[in-house]
Amino acid sequence: MRCVSWLLLGTCLLVLGPAVQGAPSQCPTLCHCHGDLQHVICDGVGLKKIPRVSEATRLLNLQRNNLGGIPTGAFSDSKGLISLHMQHCQLREIGSQAFKGLKKLIYLYLSNNEISSIKPGAFEDLAELTYLYLDGNQISDLAKGIFSPMINLFILQLNDNKLRELRQGTFAGAKDLRWLHMSGNELTTLQPGSLDDVENLAILHLDRNKMSVYPSAAMSKLRVVEELTLGRNPMRNIPDNAFQSFGRYMEKLHLDGMGLEKFSDGAFTGVTAVKSLHLDNNKLKLLPKSLEFGTITNLTISNNPWSCTCQLAPLRRWMDSSRNRPDAVCASPPSQKGKQVRESPAFSGCRVKGKRAKKGTRH
Ligand SMILES: *[C@@H]1O[C@H](CO)[C@@H](O)[C@H](O)[C@H]1NC(C)=O
Repeated sequence: MRCVSWLLLGTCLLVLGPAVQGAPSQCPTLCHCHGDLQHVICDGVGLKKIPRVSEATRLLNLQRNNLGGIPTGAFSDSKGLISLHMQHCQLREIGSQAFKGLKKLIYLYLSNNEISSIKPGAFEDLAELTYLYLDGNQISDLAKGIFSPMINLFILQLNDNKLRELRQGTFAGAKDLRWLHMSGNELTTLQPGSLDDVENLAILHLDRNKMSVYPSAAMSKLRVVEELTLGRNPMRNIPDNAFQSFGRYMEKLHLDGMGLEKFSDGAFTGVTAVKSLHLDNNKLKLLPKSLEFGTITNLTISNNPWSCTCQLAPLRRWMDSSRNRPDAVCASPPSQKGKQVRESPAFSGCRVKGKRAKKGTRH
């Protein structure tokens, strides 16, 4: 739980660190400093290059300066840094050994730059890094093993870049990664094996990409995914056993806005814990038998051409017993067209599968 408390307390904790002896004495020009130079704040002050700070400094905030790049050795005197903020610095490239010497760094913020290239060895020395923010850049490719120094990496933010595919070995070494955010990229495939190194992922965001086929092979190595977002990928079908390897853990599943037409019958095999399911804005007519409604508390299914026939009766029974009565309109058969699923009389004659067996033993 160390990571979670770091996240919640954020930079407040940095103040608590012991002061380092023999620190150079001056706050860099244009910056302001607190606590014996432990925090050096240079937010939007027009810096053109990275100021040198001593080993005493734990937090260095350089955001909103036009820095353009990170020269090799830029942080070689800054061995005490725990948190480095370089958002909005117009960085275009992360060179090899850019962060050399930052062996204590835990937080690295590189969001909203113009980074298109991360050279092999860029993250050397970052063995303590736990939170890496690279969202809002132009990254199209990640070299094999690029994250391998980061044996403690917990959160990796790569939303809104230009990633096209994930290959085997991309996350080699990052065995503790728990949250991986890759929404808003151009991913067409996750190659088989590409997620093998991060089998403990709990949160995986892949919405707003270009996958037209569910990446079954890559996903099948994940074991404990609690939250998966795939919305707004142009995927027409979800295959059998799509979520099986982590189905006992998955609580949130987002499959909205995909043009989804069909689930294979066994698409939800092994899914036993889902609470929040989002299927709105698709082309679904029916739901598969493998979907069990028992654990669901939050369902969104509007804007689908629902076929109000007995195969959809489990949905209606769930609606009748749930406080959550989501918007869902029948598109067929013609007699039900335009009616809400929750009000349609189409289900009254449907036989409840297994009901006889369950009668009298309801819990
Ligand atoms: C249902 O889930 C959606 C999407 O995650 C969320 O915005 C909404 O607040 C949830 N509603 C409830 C009642 O939990």
